[in-house]
Amino acid sequence: MVTVRNIVVLTGAGISAESGLATFRGPGGLWEGHRVEDICTPEALDRDEALVLGFYDARRRGLAHVAPNAAHRALAKLEAEWPGKLLIVTQNVDDLHERAGSRRLIHMHGELLSALCRVCGEHTAFAGDMIGGTVCPSCSARDRLRPDIVFFGEMPYEMEPIEQALIACDLFVSIGTSGAVYPAAGFVQIANATNAWTLELNLDRSAGSHHFDDARYGAASQLVPEWVDSVLAMA
Ligand code: APR
Repeated sequence: MVTVRNIVVLTGAGISAESGLATFRGPGGLWEGHRVEDICTPEALDRDEALVLGFYDARRRGLAHVAPNAAHRALAKLEAEWPGKLLIVTQNVDDLHERAGSRRLIHMHGELLSALCRVCGEHTAFAGDMIGGTVCPSCSARDRLRPDIVFFGEMPYEMEPIEQALIACDLFVSIGTSGAVYPAAGFVQIANATNAWTLELNLDRSAGSHHFDDARYGAASQLVPEWVDSVLAMA
């Protein structure tokens, strides 16, 4: 185990599962009745805009009915009490990390509570429905806002600062992700290449579990608070 100062945590849908938000590749492999490949693409948006806007409107409305769980809260506690650096990189588009109190956070796949204008390219806070008409608060374009979600085939956000943090970290922890989607699934290999200790906390083995130095399997709401307490005991 190296001396731990700088920590990077990657989270996926599994950390929000116990809050009641569906994972992407759970039983049946459908996300709320759709294959992600059919709904989470620029082509799907062009082919059937109402389906895609309506799908994300439903996801956005769903946020009002869920709350952070003990895993989100434990990571917020770690951020508040850890003397070194901590960055959370989440693949999730929900706002549960923020609502638990996390601030040092990057949403690499975008956010439900943000809209992207297809005219001016601005990202703006958005909490309502897109179906029924929108006006861009930045350029006033009508009905040209889309979900600020990184679709398959699009470049994830803030890859430069993420890679810098992975290279600089001493500890990389992956929580609640299947390791099915790149570039996030490759983060453990960047951390390994720069001699970080790597830990997987997941319900079951991910596709990349063989890359990790250590792993604990179980529910995030149990594993993450236990892990945070063990790290803070080292501080
Ligand atoms: N506690 C811990 N892990 C859990 C729990 C839980 N309660 N429930 C499920 N998991 C684990 C599953 O074992 C699985 O490995 O969480 C993982 C969820 O995997 P996915 O559904 O593939 O979600 P994720 O890895 O976040 O998907 C990555 O794929 O569809 C795209 O952009 C989308 O961000 C998403 C990306």
